[in-house]
Amino acid sequence: MSHDLSDKVILVTGGARGLGEAYARGIVENHGRVVIGDILDEDGRAAADALGDSARYVHLDVTNAESWRDAVEFTVNEFGKLNGLVNNAGVSASGQTVADESLETFQRIIQINLVSVHMGMHTAIPSIRAAGGGSIVNISSAAGLMGMALTSGYGAAKWGVRGLSKIAAVELGRDKIRVNSVHPGMVLTPMTAPTGISLEEGAFPNNPFQRVGRAEELVGAVTYLLSDDSSYTTGAELAVDGGWTAGPSIEYISGQ
Ligand SMILES: NC(=O)c1ccc[n+]([C@@H]2O[C@H](COP(=O)([O-])OP(=O)(O)OC[C@H]3O[C@@H](n4cnc5c(N)ncnc54)[C@H](O)[C@@H]3O)[C@@H](O)[C@H]2O)c1
Repeated sequence: MSHDLSDKVILVTGGARGLGEAYARGIVENHGRVVIGDILDEDGRAAADALGDSARYVHLDVTNAESWRDAVEFTVNEFGKLNGLVNNAGVSASGQTVADESLETFQRIIQINLVSVHMGMHTAIPSIRAAGGGSIVNISSAAGLMGMALTSGYGAAKWGVRGLSKIAAVELGRDKIRVNSVHPGMVLTPMTAPTGISLEEGAFPNNPFQRVGRAEELVGAVTYLLSDDSSYTTGAELAVDGGWTAGPSIEYISGQ
């Protein structure tokens, strides 16, 4: 799982905990430098401190344009340039149906999980361009690859992230900026822990492995897409979901 990121400076949103923290660690382990942007200042600072001098923390509310400008400026001031962006920050689904989810909730989730991705790319592109190109990884979800019940605003946002990634990819090829989306399945993090999921095999019958994923199992996909190992890959969607979106398992089909 080694993808050389030496000489690359990456901004990771929502990197104070969960998957974002794992991506930030993966970037440093692959010799890159990372700026963690989050609203959880204490956790974010602790996460950056734990990674040493190749990491920084900046307060970043991904729904706020000024906050985005400050974070990109901070990154360039601290590390001299910006080569990549991981749009990872997000909030979970409401767990309500389209019929039940209020417009207010729907719009709040769309704002944090989708509009933020536009804002992030919009703000970071000039700096990535100035660095001679780079890589943007937008974190969607298995819920952005299929119609998942009880995800309403969340699923709509994640489908939007997938589409927006392809649009940016076809627009930015000439700038040597690659844009891809990653689609995690069910992974144990502070976001999903309250649902009571466990890492035990058999505990998650929805995918062929019949288990949920660990955050570390997502990292290689992101470091690969950030690195030059994926120099010919743009506009792609990478499912890292234990086969969940590939289709129903034998056990499911045979009713076992
Ligand atoms: N865990 C899963 O099973 C799973 C599955 C599919 C997709 N994802 C996606 O992966 C990403 C990370 O999920 P996670 O499980 O690590 O969640 P998490 O809740 O553990 O972490 C999310 C991070 O985003 C930050 N964040 C939330 N709102 C923000 C804002 N306005 N500005 C800046 N930061 C903000 C939080 O403070 C937190 O640090 C999310 O986009 C999520 O939708 C997760």
